[in-house]
Amino acid sequence: MDSIEDRVPFDVVVSGYAIHHLTDDRKRELYGEVFGLLRAGGVFVNIEHVKSPSGRLEKLWEEMMLDSLFAYDTERGSRRSREEVADEFLHRPDKAANILAPVEDQCGWLRELGFVDVDCYFKVLELAVFGGRKPPA
Ligand SMILES: C[S@@+](CC[C@H](N)C(=O)[O-])C[C@H]1O[C@@H](n2cnc3c(N)ncnc32)[C@H](O)[C@@H]1O
Repeated sequence: MDSIEDRVPFDVVVSGYAIHHLTDDRKRELYGEVFGLLRAGGVFVNIEHVKSPSGRLEKLWEEMMLDSLFAYDTERGSRRSREEVADEFLHRPDKAANILAPVEDQCGWLRELGFVDVDCYFKVLELAVFGGRKPPA
């Protein structure tokens, strides 16, 4: 099977809900590796769980998630209370695996690495779509 080196350069690199498990140093390093894998003009898009800029917004995010989870649960016939759904969500075992970084910081790393057209293209509280483009040749 071809290795990744046999397939470079790529037109597009897309990541979904994965890089937030890496340390910030490794995130930044990985973005540099992505830059190296793209052709000139190639695009990187990261669909990602990012850190809230304040405790108040983090709480708002959690409440919005809980409203959705509770409605989803109830529509499927569950009789669990919102408090029970909240307890499970707030104490989920994989929560500690999330190493969230603010989207502004991550866009800054992309710019420092040489990406252009860097922006957060879409965001709903802690869910963000951001990225950039390797400069055209
Ligand atoms: C929330 S899931 C998202 C899965 C998939 N990308 C999607 O969007 O449906 C997070 C993924 O990150 C992976 N992951 C966690 N830590 C990782 C690491 N250190 N290196 C590579 N992948 C990791 C997990 O195995 C899991 O598949």
